Amino acid sequence: MTIPSPYLNSDKKSFAAESCLVRWPKILTGAIDDVHRTVMELDSEKESEKIEEGKSIISSVTKLKHELGKNAKLTPLEGSDRAIKEYNDALEALPEGQKSWLGAPWLYSECYMYQRLSTYFKNTKHWTSYDVFLRQKTETFHKSAGGVGELAARYQRLAGELKDISPDVLQILFNEFVDISLWGNATDLSLLTSISLEDIQSLQGAAARKKNEKNILVNDTDDIWKTISGTSGGRIDFVLDNSGFELLTDLAFALFLLDSKLADHVVLHPKNIPWFVSDVLPKDFDYLVAQLQQPGFFPDDHRESLDYLAERLIEYHSNNKLTIKTSDFWTSYCPFWEIKAGGINGGSEVHEFLKASKLVFYKGDLNHRKILGDVEWPRDTKFTTAIQSMADAGVKFATLRTIKADVVAGLPTGREEALEKEWLALGNDNKYGWAWSGKYAVIEYSSGQK
Ligand code: F6P
Ligand code: MG
Repeated sequence: MTIPSPYLNSDKKSFAAESCLVRWPKILTGAIDDVHRTVMELDSEKESEKIEEGKSIISSVTKLKHELGKNAKLTPLEGSDRAIKEYNDALEALPEGQKSWLGAPWLYSECYMYQRLSTYFKNTKHWTSYDVFLRQKTETFHKSAGGVGELAARYQRLAGELKDISPDVLQILFNEFVDISLWGNATDLSLLTSISLEDIQSLQGAAARKKNEKNILVNDTDDIWKTISGTSGGRIDFVLDNSGFELLTDLAFALFLLDSKLADHVVLHPKNIPWFVSDVLPKDFDYLVAQLQQPGFFPDDHRESLDYLAERLIEYHSNNKLTIKTSDFWTSYCPFWEIKAGGINGGSEVHEFLKASKLVFYKGDLNHRKILGDVEWPRDTKFTTAIQSMADAGVKFATLRTIKADVVAGLPTGREEALEKEWLALGNDNKYGWAWSGKYAVIEYSSGQK
């Protein structure tokens, strides 16, 4: 099957158009406000150089926002490292009509925007490690207290019960952690510009997950279980998505895998530059552990469970059973079809590493878009077709995604039309919106072998 065209920002029927026209300007405005707040907190005598750099970052982001607003051409990124060069080569290779903000492929231009933002900080003396989204991430995590308390208490109860457990019960618990980690992805700060916080919180608890079971459109959890439970021990990888509540659900899942001996090593793969607002950076792991332990950050009625969870994380981390590994590949623009021998943009190195994994979990919407190449697959395309070379790259993987963008594959024929009807019947006025809402999900699996 030939590969369809990419989703383009010019396509009014795709969420690409709305994200480019409505969301990105808001995200850039948020970045300007954030740097402004930090500059205001600096000491004008002792930190004047940092203040000047901060002002210059503000004017660069303002210029970027302006270029986006007037549909200017994307300009080459400044810098000389490998990742920047790869972005610039890909920009040059785009067809002429796809080089402006509104004409560009959605996936490329969205990744480009976050890369460009990052160059403004990288090219300074005082702001190189500054995370322009940290404030937002921290505030939202703080507001997830209900889900956090519930999850910490659940994990602590469970850890005591794991010793003499039957395989059947272990499988039930495994399914529950898959589910928790899946719906944890509903918390995505780049969506906060259109979803209310109440909406997100209502997706976080156990009762809400039960209610949402019917919204999992493809569910390959049994295949995942077979792969993971087939042998004890081994390494499991999580290609992470968002920090805060979603990261907590992933970590609870990782602890469960280690405690139950289904794995003896879990590797977390965060990003290494601030990415799509809410994505995990390596230091977010330390922040999360510190926030669990910080009196008053969350209501102290679950204090014992919060401390327990934090201590388990610290212990596994210091024993090197829970480790962190980054790669520039995760912030490249290219599909995960490059995770193969000879893959470009770091895909080859990532492939070499992931080959040794018992199973790789890809979390969230953006990772899933990259797995499917963010092209217009008919929704009933077989998953094994839509993932292209990942189908036989020798890496077993599963994807846990709440659907927030157009690209979807693996649905039974006719399901798409049924979903459109269902979405309209729920009182919505755009039949395509079901795929943008984060209310539906897929759990899809590949054995990595044909
Ligand atoms: O849907 C809007 C969007 O910004 C997408 O571009 C992106 O895929 C998604 O949000 C981010 O979601 P997630 O954090 O689940 O990857
Ligand atoms: Mg994200």
